[in-house]
Amino acid sequence: MRTSLSGKTVFITGATGGIGSAASHELIARGASVVVTDIGKQQVDDLAAALGERALPIVVDVTDRGSIDQAMARAVDHFGKVDIVFANAGIANDPPLTVAGLTDEMFEKVIDVDLNGVWHTVRAGLPQVIEHGGYVLITSSIYAFMNGVVNAPYAMSKAAVEQLGRALRTELAYRGASAGVLYPGWVDTNIASVAMHDPGPVKELADHAFRGPLGKTITPERAAKAIANGMEKRAPRIIVPRRWIPFSLMRGAFNVATDAIMERDAKIAGVLERIDRDAPGA
Ligand SMILES: NC(=O)c1ccc[n+]([C@@H]2O[C@H](COP(=O)([O-])OP(=O)(O)OC[C@H]3O[C@@H](n4cnc5c(N)ncnc54)[C@H](O)[C@@H]3O)[C@@H](O)[C@H]2O)c1
Repeated sequence: MRTSLSGKTVFITGATGGIGSAASHELIARGASVVVTDIGKQQVDDLAAALGERALPIVVDVTDRGSIDQAMARAVDHFGKVDIVFANAGIANDPPLTVAGLTDEMFEKVIDVDLNGVWHTVRAGLPQVIEHGGYVLITSSIYAFMNGVVNAPYAMSKAAVEQLGRALRTELAYRGASAGVLYPGWVDTNIASVAMHDPGPVKELADHAFRGPLGKTITPERAAKAIANGMEKRAPRIIVPRRWIPFSLMRGAFNVATDAIMERDAKIAGVLERIDRDAPGA
């Protein structure tokens, strides 16, 4: 069953990034109002100006619970309610490093945005979602089930927020509200550029590990259409592009096999040795 997004208010974190911005445009086109939040004032203002009067720009740092609480209160004040919370802000270690090569500070920074930030966003929006029979969409990643080599803090967070979304969906059902998890594959945005475009050992690793169609990026606009469709359907999971669906469904057997292959792969060992050579935590 589909519920129209027309007249709904969607609160989005990381709204000025590739996926957030494309989703904001798609949601406006489908008649929703959007609260576009991110860390940069100029960026949220510019995005809201491009979206028109159904967009409210607010500066939010998801690592700061108080800043999200205030933004949520402003959103309710402005639009009267929030129906959908899209917990989408995220970062990755840049450059990607091994567990031995990271510093504790680098680890904590990613966990703070990708795990704690999602928790803060969900918690701040939950009273509105429950009151209006709404929906929470949490941005996880294919890294929730793929091997997180050189991106362990990111993969840890994405696996953790997947669990948050699943539990939340079950817990909200009796209240008439819902939740879902978004699993993007490779989408052409800033966060993907280190692995997919910048020359160097990380791209070599990605090219080697993600072959054929699995290494192809999709546009943020394509992801945005899947996101809006999923919001209309209150989908439990949105996997985009669809080529990743079998890997998610078969992850038990697939992970055992691929982890064993990766451990013995001479090319991967060589690239990791180069990544570790100048790493700050090594
Ligand atoms: N692009 C991909 O290939 C891909 C794949 C899987 C999952 N994802 C996830 O999709 C989400 C959106 O990423 P994207 O691809 O649009 O990348 P992006 O880098 O373009 O956007 C991320 C946004 O999050 C914002 N952000 C970072 N720290 C923040 C903070 N402390 N508070 C508030 N906002 C903050 C950034 O300013 C940026 O606008 C992320 O959670 C990312 O992990 C992306």
